[in-house]
Amino acid sequence: MNGTIALRAENIYRGSLILVNREYGYRERKEDLAAPGREETAQTLMQRRAALLLDSLMEVIGGWREIVPVSGWRSYREQKAIWEESLAESGREFTEKYVALPGHSEHQTGLAIDLGKRREEIDFIRPDFPYTGICQSFRKKAAEYGFIERYPAGKEQITGIGHEPWHFRYVGIPHARIMQEKEMTLEEYISFIRQFPYGEAAYRIRERGREIEVSYLKAQEECTRLEMDPQVPYAVSGNNVDGFIITQWRRKSGCAQSARYVEVSS
Ligand code: DAL
Ligand code: ZN
Repeated sequence: MNGTIALRAENIYRGSLILVNREYGYRERKEDLAAPGREETAQTLMQRRAALLLDSLMEVIGGWREIVPVSGWRSYREQKAIWEESLAESGREFTEKYVALPGHSEHQTGLAIDLGKRREEIDFIRPDFPYTGICQSFRKKAAEYGFIERYPAGKEQITGIGHEPWHFRYVGIPHARIMQEKEMTLEEYISFIRQFPYGEAAYRIRERGREIEVSYLKAQEECTRLEMDPQVPYAVSGNNVDGFIITQWRRKSGCAQSARYVEVSS
């Protein structure tokens, strides 16, 4: 039995895999937001699913005892105020390195969060989030919960942003893990998945005996239709460029015992 899914053009700009950077801006819309963390930081918001997963991760590692959410969702106006203040206080070079142009910040999507080690004074633009202790325990588990460190060292030319050890982006599973294993930024991942056109090829990985297929579907002008087997769980996200990323969770096969991702073909 098949089911037809119709994706409207505006869906290109929605979903957990949207690429928001200097080249591709964020089309503002009302997101469903919630506050991760403790009550004292309830003004820091994220998209609800991302907030829930962040809390789940923090619970496993006891993270909120030592980690604070510093900055989550920002409106365009907030991003503009941060940009202007940084420009006035720290100059253009610093600002371009650590603050995204208003309209081009992942913070506007509600999918990104800056995390800081709990301390008396926390730098709002560049909070301390070292590669040791609880912060590193967070990093090690982040991908399992769908989060990536978005601006790694050595990839500044690709992301257009300086190294930001504190900025995490929710992209969902299995994508966070693929990116981590392949050491890919979101820019690289979005172009990597283009090699797997939906219906022709898929990037296949296996997790807990379940095969997962990821593929790319170019958007049609107004409405993109695709046939899906309703028995197979799937997720669709826009890429914020020109199409969609389709993820399908195939049935469990009997042979794999490993909980780790195994690449079965590429
Ligand atoms: N600090 C990141 C790049 C932002 O402003 O979105
Ligand atoms: Zn940030």
